[in-house]
Parts: sequence; C-alpha cells; structure tokens
Amino acid sequence: MIGTDIHQAAAWLRRGELVAVPTETVYGLAGNAFDPDAVLRIFQVKQRPRFNPLIVHVAGIDAAMPLVAEMPPAARRLAEACWPGPLTLLLPRSAAISDLVTAGSPLVALRVPAHPLTLSLLRLLEFPLCAPSANPFGYISPTTAAHVEAQLGGAIPYILDGGPAQVGIESTIIGFDEQARPRLYRAGGLAPERIEALAGPLLSAPHSDSPAAPGMLKSHYAPRTPLFFGDMDELLKEHGAEGSVLLLFSAARKELPVSQQLILSPAGDLSEAARKLFAAMRQLDAMGAARILAAPFPEAGLGFAINDRLKRASM
Ligand code: TXA
Ligand code: MG
Repeated sequence: MIGTDIHQAAAWLRRGELVAVPTETVYGLAGNAFDPDAVLRIFQVKQRPRFNPLIVHVAGIDAAMPLVAEMPPAARRLAEACWPGPLTLLLPRSAAISDLVTAGSPLVALRVPAHPLTLSLLRLLEFPLCAPSANPFGYISPTTAAHVEAQLGGAIPYILDGGPAQVGIESTIIGFDEQARPRLYRAGGLAPERIEALAGPLLSAPHSDSPAAPGMLKSHYAPRTPLFFGDMDELLKEHGAEGSVLLLFSAARKELPVSQQLILSPAGDLSEAARKLFAAMRQLDAMGAARILAAPFPEAGLGFAINDRLKRASM
C-alpha cells in the first residue's frame, strides 16, 4: 500500500515489518536496526548479499551518539554542517549496533536524511532504521514511490510516499583514516568540494576491489538494457545510431532524432541532472532499445557522482 501516514508506517516498523521511506537521495527499504529479524528480511527482500552492510538512519546527531564508539572532530564538523543531508559517515560502532547490520565491520555507516516525512517518522520511533536503497540488488535506485511499488510492492506492506527525491543520487559516504582525515568511499549527493571546504582535502577510496569498499561492486545501478559509457562520437562510431538511445547532459545531437535522446538538463545544471538521472535510466530501459549510450558529465559538483553511477551501470 502507498500512503503518507507516518503513524501507519511506524506501526508496521514496530511490528518488525519493512516499510519503504522517502529520502532526499533515493527511497530506502527500512527496518528496525535493533531487530535482527527485520534486518535479515531487508537482505532477503533486496536479494542483497549478506556481506554488504546497511546504512543506519537516525533523526539527528543526538540519536547517532549512542550508536558510535567515537566521533572524531572532523566527523562532528561534517555532521553539524551537513545533517540532515546526503552525507553518510563511517564511524566506529558501539555495542548497540550488531554484526548483522555492519556485516562484521567495526564501523557503522550513519546518516540523517533530509526529508520531512522520514525525519518525523524517525523522531516517532524508539529505534534507528536500517535502509538500503529500495531496489532489487544491482538495479537502479528508486527516486519515486512508483519505482518502489513496481519492484518491491508485493514484498512490503507499506510505501511512505514523499514525492520525487530532490537530490536523486545516493548519499556521499565519508570515512576517516588513523589521523582522522576524511576519505571518500562513495561519491554521492553531497558535492566533494563542500566536504573539502569543511574537513580538508579528501583522500580517495581504498582499492575498489576490496570487499570492504562500500557501494563499489562492479555492475551496480544497472539497467537491463546494455549501457555504454564514453566519448559520444566514439560510441556512435562503434555501435551506430540505429537501436541506440542517448543519455545526454545539456545538448542534443542535431543529426539524430529527438525521440532517441534524453537530455537531463537543458540549462546545464548538474544538480538537476542528478535529480533526473535514475528516472531517466529507467525510462530509457523501458524503451526496448538495443543499447543506451551515455557520455561523461563535467567533473564538478554532482558530476563526479553521476559519472560514478554511469560507469558502474556500464558494460
Ligand atoms: O542515500 C543513501 O545512502 C540511500 C538512502 C536510502 O539513505 N541508501 C543507500 O544504501 O544508498 P545502499 O545500501 O544502497 O548503499 C549503501 C552503501 C553500500 O554500498 C554499503 O556497502 C555501504 O554503504 N556501507 C554501509 N555500511 C557500511 C559499513 N559499515 N562499512 C562500509 N560500507 C558500508
Ligand atoms: Mg543501493
């Protein structure tokens, strides 16, 4: 069922059921983080491998504190400036967080989502919510309640509808090294420039084949239609225009029919492009084309995260 009643959502969650919740990034598949059965059910419904840990969502810094063993000053600075918002912090967990949630890691991923409905829900609840993106494992994340309904509607009792996601791309994940310097684990909805301004230069993620690296599995965020990512002239030369649909930033290819092209932001706004990216990928996936072709976006602001997702969606 789809609705906007946080009390109904809370009632299901207190019973150990899962509820899809809106956030500013993407919709989450939420369950009680303190209930092992609910957490297990998240892995089951998503068909997600158990070694891939879950982000824990809380209502604010105060609610985060009992879940962590420590909060380095750089982390606190980021949390104070960016929460609620599209920032996930990897911090040493306290005993309140189980192995099941972190897949055995001593670190827990925490975030405060910037969506009024879900924030009210979190304030109402006596427990934090584990919530991965509400899509089957490996597919594109949902940015509307209808996306969730189409794929997981049969498996969960309630979808809290908060409208289309305003950021549209998953949260930026930041961890810290031994010297408490910030490290980027996943590019996302909070621009890296903003994080660097608050916490200093960002170290890059550890080697991406490492199973400990989050969100870094190859073939992720992928449509069913094969997607190719690269210079558009070269892609068109290699694959041809016939049977191809194009995902473009701001300008159409004049030589091709408009029906074969999807422009994310005619105004050239990377935030608008990020907001529309996943719905556009779903739309292109449903067109029955032989392939999707996408060219790199400018490497600034949310462009890093867009390119990251397109790379992972590509063959
Ligand atoms: O914007 C978001 O972050 C959305 C919304 C729903 O909050 N959630 C989301 O969750 O994208 P998910 O599970 O699809 O992606 C979370 C990533 C995963 O790749 C996981 O490996 C990583 O975060 N992660 C979670 N907990 C971790 C931990 N303790 N250590 C390392 N990586 C972790
Ligand atoms: Mg996901």
